[in-house]
Amino acid sequence: MSKSTTAVMDKIVSLCKRRGFVFPASEIYGGQGSTYDWGPLGVELKRRVKEAWWRSMVYDRQDVVGLDSAIIQSPEVWRASGHVDGFTDPLIDNKTSKQRYRADHLVEARIEKYRRQGKEERAAALQEKLTAALGDNQALRRLILEEGIKCPVSGTDDWTEVRQFNLMFQTWVGPVQDSAAVAWLRPETAQGIFINFNNVVTATRKKLPFGIAQIGKSFRNEITPGNFVFRTREFEQMEMEYFCRPEEAERWFDYWQQERFRWYLDLGVDPEKLRLRQHTSDELAHYAAGCGDVEYLFPFGWSELEGIANRTDYDLKRHTEASGVQLSWFDQERNEHIVPYVIEPAAGCDRTAMTFLVDAYDEEGEGKDRRVVLHLHPRIAPVTVAVFPLVKKEGMPEKAAEIEQELRRRFTTAIELNQSIGRRYRRQDEIGTPFCVTVDGDTLADDTVTLRERDSMSQERVPVSELAGVIDQRIADWRRPEKASVA
Ligand code: GAP
Repeated sequence: MSKSTTAVMDKIVSLCKRRGFVFPASEIYGGQGSTYDWGPLGVELKRRVKEAWWRSMVYDRQDVVGLDSAIIQSPEVWRASGHVDGFTDPLIDNKTSKQRYRADHLVEARIEKYRRQGKEERAAALQEKLTAALGDNQALRRLILEEGIKCPVSGTDDWTEVRQFNLMFQTWVGPVQDSAAVAWLRPETAQGIFINFNNVVTATRKKLPFGIAQIGKSFRNEITPGNFVFRTREFEQMEMEYFCRPEEAERWFDYWQQERFRWYLDLGVDPEKLRLRQHTSDELAHYAAGCGDVEYLFPFGWSELEGIANRTDYDLKRHTEASGVQLSWFDQERNEHIVPYVIEPAAGCDRTAMTFLVDAYDEEGEGKDRRVVLHLHPRIAPVTVAVFPLVKKEGMPEKAAEIEQELRRRFTTAIELNQSIGRRYRRQDEIGTPFCVTVDGDTLADDTVTLRERDSMSQERVPVSELAGVIDQRIADWRRPEKASVA
């Protein structure tokens, strides 16, 4: 990461800790590397992300239902899905520094370096070699040596052999820790959906095409976690498996890519920093016939937010073969069993929450007018309205409490009594609160308040009786403002 990149990320990480979005996990014991706890505001942010996802994927449609499957399933699930044998990353250790790396990532970093230096031909040639070497541990190691790639920590090239490392967390179920008791924490929520296909069809009588959506924790023993909550070992996924007739899979694949891309834009993400990138054939997961990634331009570069994959009939067939239970849909009109194809939009909740934070972060003004502000979409902001009494006397705190209580029925609210009004505005700006309401002397006389907007900082007098309606309208009309800084 460049210095300015690190600086922006550092500021966001610091704000997250200071204001209670994200805390380093196990901090009082020195921390647990790349593991985080979501604080009071972070929890609210994530809830809103999940609510917005569920609304658009389930409530706003007729053809998708929800599910909440177990994290620990039968080990047979992961054997059949291919995760026991295939969910691996190639690892290499540096003998001097004892640091461990993803072997393919070391080569990718070299390709990236060539690109930055304008050596396009060299980059393309190395990319081709890397593609050919993937899955062949010895070839991958040879490539690292040929390129003279050194450990960034020790500066040496005394590399170990490349080994495949399974990313699933293993545990034991019950009191005996032997091989018969081995189980795994799920590395994706998707498999819980596939194995419940018949149950959901029978229970809901859904007809093709239809989807099953699920939000929940997944676990991966990532070798190189990092970039704050972008890649961690424990994270929440928001996945939907959309089952359709095989001949319609291409159409639904396109449809879901557009839908999912639009979701981020609708929630205010900068269109200039969002793109849809198709996977090349060597990038495709073992189950996929096609995949498009929604990517965001983070301070550390373009990175995946969500993958939309055409998983074909791979998973249902694998589970049918392994379990002996036919997972298929009976088409009564044609009098035949169909094994549907699956289109899967799979997003990360923590990653999405982080994207909204990074995208919303801005620094404006100079000197005493300087402010740090999160231009979060009002539907995503942890607090929608903060209410302030101008002073702590003359009945203003009581009136503010009354107004806050009323607004609380419709919005998430906060009340702040201390510090100057200016300071209180700044504190709310920093956590992305889109509206502040100030109760002053006039309020007690004419029942109006000052409604102040976060983005424009404009202030307007509004009758208390109309306040909720005006805020609702502003939320509906909200447009992302231009950012003042390059942050
Ligand atoms: N069921 C398909 C699947 O799991 P994936 O691309 O491996 O596909 C989907 O994961 C999404 O889950 C990613 O796009 C990302 O947003 C999130 N995700 C995956 N690994 C993650 C990690 N280690 N930390 C945070 N989020 C992660």
